Amino acid sequence: MVKFFNLNKNEDQDDREVHIDLNNIPKHIAIIMDGNGRWAKERNLPRTMGHRAAVEAIRDIVKECSKLNVNYLTLYAFSTENWKRPKDEVSALMRLLVEYLKKELNELDKNNVIINCIGDISKLPLACQEQLIISCEKTKTNTGLTLNLALNYGGRYEIVRAFKLMYEDIKSKKINEEDINEETVSKYLYTKGMPDPDIIIRPSGEQRLSNFLLWQCAYSEFWYSDIKWPDFKKEHLYKAISDYQNRDRRFGGLK
Ligand code: IPE
Ligand code: IPE
Ligand code: MG
Repeated sequence: MVKFFNLNKNEDQDDREVHIDLNNIPKHIAIIMDGNGRWAKERNLPRTMGHRAAVEAIRDIVKECSKLNVNYLTLYAFSTENWKRPKDEVSALMRLLVEYLKKELNELDKNNVIINCIGDISKLPLACQEQLIISCEKTKTNTGLTLNLALNYGGRYEIVRAFKLMYEDIKSKKINEEDINEETVSKYLYTKGMPDPDIIIRPSGEQRLSNFLLWQCAYSEFWYSDIKWPDFKKEHLYKAISDYQNRDRRFGGLK
């Protein structure tokens, strides 16, 4: 058991000690990193400055998840719908991704983090693809936290892709109709071999999934907060974990 004093004096409910049980840390935490644009707007800054500030938050949360021995951290960084944004914003996001990986790769590797991508990265600019491949390659034999970067990721796209892959395997007789069950479907998803997220965190005040991990979230606990992602600190992570530990997960059964 650890105790953590929350320094955020502005929010009454958070202004108390947060207890988390180190024996009941979620194996898989997924975060919809939202609110960067509004964070910037509140400060009269361009939206891209919000995305820049978001990178700082990522750094701290990855470090904290590693320390807490979380097995998987999935970060929603760019959705299949985010291409609708102005070209300049999309380019800035892609540049920030490359910058983040270049700057953090050695440190992440030193911390035993495995970098992994979920989503169709073949549509990303070449420089991003190259840096991602380098980062995944360098860290693939690590044994610590798996950092899933959801890039050009969409839950529906992922499911359609799974159907197509499965169809190919049926045609080539690799699998039969009888083999199709929930476990098989999971094996055709980007998250193959990973546990479903125990908790999905969404800051920024929005309470929707926005096409994130649609199959995998069947029994995930949701945790929402008004904090914008660039302001998301380790105390918020602790609060989310502590709330998660106080939830009653029944999976449809009875206690
Ligand atoms: C999340 O922040 C980052 C991405 C979606 C890439 P937003 O850019 O959506 O920030 P808001 O929602 O406009 O505040
Ligand atoms: C979800 O945020 C996608 C990411 C955080 C990458 P959005 O800002 O794109 O979602 P909506 O448009 O508010 O649903
Ligand atoms: Mg948003």
